[in-house]
Parts: sequence; structure tokens; C-alpha cells
Amino acid sequence: MDWSKEMGLRNVSSTCSLSEMDDCGLSRLLDKPRLNIERQRSFDERSLSELSIGLTRGGYDNYETTYSPGGRSGFDTPASSARNSFEPHPMVAEAWEALRRSLVYFRGQPVGTIAAYDHASEEVLNYDQVFVRDFVPSALAFLMNGEPEIIKNFLLKTLQLQGWEKRIDRFKLGEGAMPASFKVLHDPVRKKDTIIADFGESAIGRVAPVDSGFWWIILLRAYTKSTGDLSLAETPECQKGMRLILTLCLSEGFDTFPTLLCADGCSMIDRRMGIYGYPIEIQALFFMALRCALSMLKHDVEGKECIERIVKRLHALSYHIRSYFWLDFQQLNDIYRYKTEEYSHTAVNKFNVIPDSIPEWVFDFMPARGGYFIGNVSPARMDFRWFCLGNCIAILSSLATPEQSMAIMDLIEARWDELVGEMPLKIAYPAIESHEWRIVTGCDPKNTRWSYHNGGSWPVLLWLLTAACIKTGRPQIARRAIDLAETRLLKDSWPEYYDGKLGRFIGKQARKYQTWSIAGYLVAKMMLEDPSHLGMISLEEDKQMKPLIKRSSSWTC
Ligand code: GLC
Repeated sequence: MDWSKEMGLRNVSSTCSLSEMDDCGLSRLLDKPRLNIERQRSFDERSLSELSIGLTRGGYDNYETTYSPGGRSGFDTPASSARNSFEPHPMVAEAWEALRRSLVYFRGQPVGTIAAYDHASEEVLNYDQVFVRDFVPSALAFLMNGEPEIIKNFLLKTLQLQGWEKRIDRFKLGEGAMPASFKVLHDPVRKKDTIIADFGESAIGRVAPVDSGFWWIILLRAYTKSTGDLSLAETPECQKGMRLILTLCLSEGFDTFPTLLCADGCSMIDRRMGIYGYPIEIQALFFMALRCALSMLKHDVEGKECIERIVKRLHALSYHIRSYFWLDFQQLNDIYRYKTEEYSHTAVNKFNVIPDSIPEWVFDFMPARGGYFIGNVSPARMDFRWFCLGNCIAILSSLATPEQSMAIMDLIEARWDELVGEMPLKIAYPAIESHEWRIVTGCDPKNTRWSYHNGGSWPVLLWLLTAACIKTGRPQIARRAIDLAETRLLKDSWPEYYDGKLGRFIGKQARKYQTWSIAGYLVAKMMLEDPSHLGMISLEEDKQMKPLIKRSSSWTC
């Protein structure tokens, strides 16, 4: 069945192809969304009912926020101060101001937010660019505040960039690759704005961002879900954009695993940190993007083929990650007792993991109750480190079963000092040190122990924790983390990250006024105040995970 018909919408056709999409075409697409109020209401109801399902399962009983069904963010800024009976935290207004300062304009239209607005820093590097991943919390904040135009502009601008030919030296990148970042250049003399984009050819280490395309799809769904404006996702350009991104990941090759093989540094952790292989961050985002695309792809000839491949892959991917990446006390004990060198289909220790390779710290770290998805699984190698983003996305996308989601929250509570400490939240745990640090990071002075990507604490992760907490019905955990952030973030001028075992020190080379630290805080606050926002970034469990998922159930799930 046609998706638009099913949603009771007129079919918007576009005659403009991606290569022809000039600025005139772009401005047509940038027309204000003609929101159908009726339809928007039904979307709200839908997200609310979804939310209540999640909360019932996750323990709605102990849920005690100012939850008000139908309470949607107002259209004024900041929404939270306009709507609530209690006084908003003074940081909220400051954060909105800083977020607006970070807006980047292209020919008069806001198209994104700069990574950091830190004038004090001597080195700008590429922090003056709009990063795709960094823009996600900004986008969510604007959507929650009823300002979807910026997100629409961003989605269309990056889609245009995807159409560029991408080369690194003499090598051409896949058509679907999305940039890590882009920069708007203003020529005051000729009064012209131009864009330069980085697909990895300028990035430190020259790695292409695997996460950018996934975030793009996830954001397209968030926009659609929050505005009820289906016409954007339906355009041939967006449909093609999604297909191109997924074609890169769904192609057949030599792989024996359904997970995606990645280079080190291809995600939020964008430099060598030993995450090469099958990092959980990418696998969870891959899963979420597949599910989001499934809900937005049309059932036309090209769409159908893509949908079939997605459904098969989702099936294999969820099985693989839920079984082999999962670690709890029982599983750890099983691995500890593994036999090695088993051959054939009957092998228990399928990847031939040698128990001696289990690091000492994990035996103390693992609580009796709780568990998590480990960092990486490949032949004879399990990276037992905890990675925050991958685990939160696993909860939000329902890659984690409800039991696994609960166990992840249990672990965060049981290991609060290690994973949250004095400043939420650790990007990875634990840090690698000494000889291992030398080998794994290549002696990276930025990634020394308990700093930056190597066990540093990143305030941006607060929004992901908050969303996961709401979904699992445990908002009190998020509140505790937000309280911690509020003691320091503004005073410290919104650092990019904190250092130290407990995250007590402003990061050695952390930028100030880091946009995603600001936006992450705002999103966390707004979601906690109005949990109905969760719907735009969360997917309910698909109980069947049958080979054939019906269109109607796939949108709402
Ligand atoms: C750092 C981070 C990366 C982020 C970029 C811009 O390189 O590791 O995740 O996108 O800064 O803020």
C-alpha cells in the first residue's frame, strides 16, 4: 500500500531530480510546510499512545514528572519557560541564547549550527563547521520548540551535498556517503554564499563518517513525526537519499556477520581508539536508521526492493547483537568458562574468544543485576568496554529487548560513580592506559587516560540518557544526572568534555560553548518536562520482527 495514501495525504510529486536541484528548486522545496492541523493532532496522539505503552511496560507506576498528555512545546522561545507552572532553571534561557548564536545561515536561511562558538580558543580547526552528528541535538531542541524550518533546511542542504562527487586522492567514495561536516563561506564583496563539505577527505585521519547517513535518516523521521509533514520524506529526493545511504550498507560481500565492518574513527569517536571492527555505536545507529527508513520508504518499485533487504537485515542484525554483544553476569561467567578451538556448527564459543583475553576490570565492574552491549565483537576479540551512545541508541531503537533495556538502566544505577561520576556522562569506560594506550591510540596525546574519547565525560550524552530513562520509565535517573550538569555546565561555559575518573575537570583541550553540550542539555530538560517528545526519537519494540513487516505497523512501532 502506498504510504501517503495510507496516511490520508495527497501525494506531492516533484519533477526535480537531485542533480537538477538548483537553488530555485531548493527554495521550492523549502516552502513552509503546509501543516494539516487535523493530521498533526493525530501524530501527537500517536506519540502519546506509544509513550504510554513504553511507560506501562517500563514501570509507569513510579513515574513522577509533570507529565501532561497533550502538552506540546509551545511555539515561543524558550518553550519550557512559557508553559510550566514552576520557574525554569536560569540556565535554560542562557542555553537558548547560546544555541541561537550558533546558527549558521546560507543565503539568509538557517541551515544548521556551528560545532563550537569558542572565540577564546586559538585553534579553530573544524569547530566552525556544521557537523551532521552535532546538529542532531540542536535539531531536536528546535523541533521540540516548534521550529521545524531549520531542520528541513538542514536535511535538504545535506541531501544536496550527498549528490556531490566525493574523492579522496584518486579514490571515489560511495554515492550515498553523507558529509561529516560542512561550512558556509560568505563572500562579502560578491555577496555570495558557498558551501564546502568534508566527507573524510579533510578530516583528521581521513576517515569517512559512517554515522552521518544514519543520523540523517533518523532526523528525517524525527522531523516527520514531530511536524506531521509527510511531504518532505515523500519527495523523490529524500526517497533516493535514503536508498543511497542504505545501499552502501546493505550490499553483499565477504561478510559472515550482519553487522557493519568499520574503520577506526568513523563515528562520534572520530580518531583512533580501537573501535575498528563492529563498534556498537555504528551497529545501533544502523539498526535504528533501518527501522526509521522502513517507516518512510514508499512501496514503489525501487522502494520495495530496498524494503525487502531492510527487513531481512533487521532480522539478522537484531539476533546477532542481542545474542553476541550482550553481557551480564551470567554471560560473563559463561565466557569465562568457554572452551576454545571448537570447530563446526555445534561450537558454543563461535568466535573462538580465549577466556584469558577477558580484562580484569570487567569482573569487578559487572554487577549481579544489570548488563550492557559490549563495544565490539569479532573473531577472537571482544571489546568489553562500555560505550554510552551505542547502549542508549539500542534502548531508543528497541534493539535492546525490554529486559535488556532494564538491565542497562540497572547497570547505570549500580555503577553510577564509574559511568556518571560528577559530570554526566562517560563516553566509554574504562580508559585505556600505558602500553595499551600506546598501541591502541597510536600514542594520541588528546586521548590520554580519562580524557576526551578515552574515558572522558561528554555533557551531550545527557539527552540520550534522558531519552533512555523516559523510555524505560526511570526518569528519576535522568533527573539526578541533569542536577549534576546544572551545578557546572553554565559556570564552566558549556565545555565539550570533562576529564578525570569522575569527570571533575574541564577537558584538557575541550572547546567552550560547544553547541551540542548546550543543545543536549535543552533536549534533556524539555523531554523530562514533556515526555511526549520522546516519540520523535524512539521506536517501540517490534514484537514480531517477522520477515514481512506491514507498512501500517512499521510506522507506529
Ligand atoms: C570531535 C568529536 C566529534 C564531533 C566533533 C565536532 O571531533 O569527536 O564527535 O563531531 O568534535 O564537535
